[in-house]
Amino acid sequence: MIIIKTRREIERMRKASAIVAEALNAIKEFISPGVTTKDLEQIAEDIIKRRGGKPAFKGYRGYPASICVSVNDEVVHGIPSTSVILKHGDIVSIDLGVVYDGYIGDAAITVPVGEITEEAKRLLEVTEKALYIGIQEAKVNKRVSDISNAIQRYVESHGFSVVRQFVGHGVGKQLHEEPQIPNFGPPGKGPKLKEGMTLAIEPMVNAGKYEVYVLDDGWTAKTADGSLSAHFEHTILIKRGGPEILTKLN
Ligand code: MF3
Ligand code: CO
Repeated sequence: MIIIKTRREIERMRKASAIVAEALNAIKEFISPGVTTKDLEQIAEDIIKRRGGKPAFKGYRGYPASICVSVNDEVVHGIPSTSVILKHGDIVSIDLGVVYDGYIGDAAITVPVGEITEEAKRLLEVTEKALYIGIQEAKVNKRVSDISNAIQRYVESHGFSVVRQFVGHGVGKQLHEEPQIPNFGPPGKGPKLKEGMTLAIEPMVNAGKYEVYVLDDGWTAKTADGSLSAHFEHTILIKRGGPEILTKLN
């Protein structure tokens, strides 16, 4: 069942999402060569605490940290570490979920470290644009796979591929609610979108082939062919007048 949120629930998700956006902004500003992925976790934790929230990922199915940090050919779910030092030319995906008063906001960005290659720049641009193209489809009476199809077509028209093994999702009291939102597939399938639904749309895009595998740590997903991967995500609210992005970075 897809949960329709009340005004009161949406208010809490708005607050959770504002904390997510603030923390992602701070992390983005801080990212530079020499910084460890653990330093980024610390920034997130400080801001979440100061704003009265809680990390949504820590302890989720045993995940050991407050953010996911995935570098270069890592796709998602990289675990922050003092031994991973960011260097010039890297791309780094930061995924963050916050609980506020029992409700969750979830978002991700991919950030360049110093000067990156033209291909990496294009990958970041296409992935972020794919997210916005997906969000544009998130309208009352459209269906879930209209989002999926729009994302896939845009990404593939630019010569990149969408990861199939991980999907977007409903979000609210739980991090993962119905429906699942794949980033590929034919249009016109799945549940109809209704006012008051809250969704996390999150294209993961590989510069090469779409296959991924998970490392022995049980979490870190990497591209099978070693190509670069990017990830952008927003939590959105379906409204009559069109989607509202709750995790907007200002
Ligand atoms: N945004 C990701 C997701 O929705 C992050 C989850 S990481 C986890 O799946 F550790 F919480 F699983
Ligand atoms: Co998510």
